[in-house]
Amino acid sequence: MKKTVPDFAVHKGGTPMVVVTAYDYAAGQQAQAAGVDAILVGDSLGMVVLGYESTALVTLEDMIHHARAVRRGAPDTFMVVDLPFGSYQTGVNDALRASVRLVKEGMADAVKLEGGVHYQDTVRAIVSAGIPVMGHVGLLPQTAAVQGGLKVQGKSSEAAARILEDALAVEQAGAYSVVLEAVPAKLAALITSRLSIPTVGIGAGAACDGQVLVYHDLLGIFDRFRPKFVKAYAELGVTSVQALTRYALEVRERTFPGPEHGFAVKDEVLEKLY
Ligand code: KIV
Ligand code: NA
Repeated sequence: MKKTVPDFAVHKGGTPMVVVTAYDYAAGQQAQAAGVDAILVGDSLGMVVLGYESTALVTLEDMIHHARAVRRGAPDTFMVVDLPFGSYQTGVNDALRASVRLVKEGMADAVKLEGGVHYQDTVRAIVSAGIPVMGHVGLLPQTAAVQGGLKVQGKSSEAAARILEDALAVEQAGAYSVVLEAVPAKLAALITSRLSIPTVGIGAGAACDGQVLVYHDLLGIFDRFRPKFVKAYAELGVTSVQALTRYALEVRERTFPGPEHGFAVKDEVLEKLY
C-alpha cells in the first residue's frame, strides 16, 4: 500500500525516513524494490541526467516527463516531485498551476519547492489546494549563486537564525516535511528539535528525521564532483565503463555475439539460396 501524508509523521523522532531521488523507470523500480519510504524526482536531474551546470535550466516539462517514467516503475511508492526554477517564483497562481500539472500529468503525490519565509504564502496556497508540500531550506541549489555557490549554509549566527526561521515558516504554512540541505549538523539537530514535522537531511548530519541522497551520487555514477556529504554505496560509473570497454573489445575481436546469442535455422531452408 502506498503511503499517505499522515504516515510520514512516524519518522518524527522515530526510525529515519529513507528518501532517494529517481529520474526514470528503472531507478523507480529499484527504489521501490529497496523499500524506500519516498522517492524524490529532484530537479537535480538537470545535472546528473541532462548534464546541465545548474538545476535552474530544468523545465516543468522535463519534470513531468521524468516523473511519469519514475511512476511507471514505482506505482506503490510515495513520490515527491520538485517544482523547477521559474515555475513558482513568478507568483502564487503560477505555483498552483505548476503543482497541479505535477500531480495531474506527472502523477506526483507531493511537490517540493525551495525557500522559507518568502514562500510561506505559496506553500500555504498549494497545501490549501490539497497538494502536500515538502519544504526545502538551507542550501537552495536553484538560486545558489546568491548563497555563494553550492556550499554549506548557516555558518554565522544570523544565517543560522534565518534557516531556522525558514524551516518554521514552511512548517507553519502546512508543509508535511522539510529538506535541510548543507547545514551544519548541530544546526540541523536544533531545527529538527524545534519542528514538529519530520526534517530530511542532505549534508545535514545524523539527527534529522530522515535522509535523502541523489541516486547517481549514492551509486557512484556522477563523476563531475562528489560533495563531502555523499556516501557512494557502489561505483556503478566505473563498472559501466568497464562493461562498455569489454563489449567494444569483444565486438572488434568477434567474440561477441557467441552462438548462444544467435538464432538457428535448418540448413535446408537456406540451401536454395546458395
Ligand atoms: O533535486 C534534488 O535532488 C533535491 C535533493 C538534493 C533534496 O532537491
Ligand atoms: Na531539488
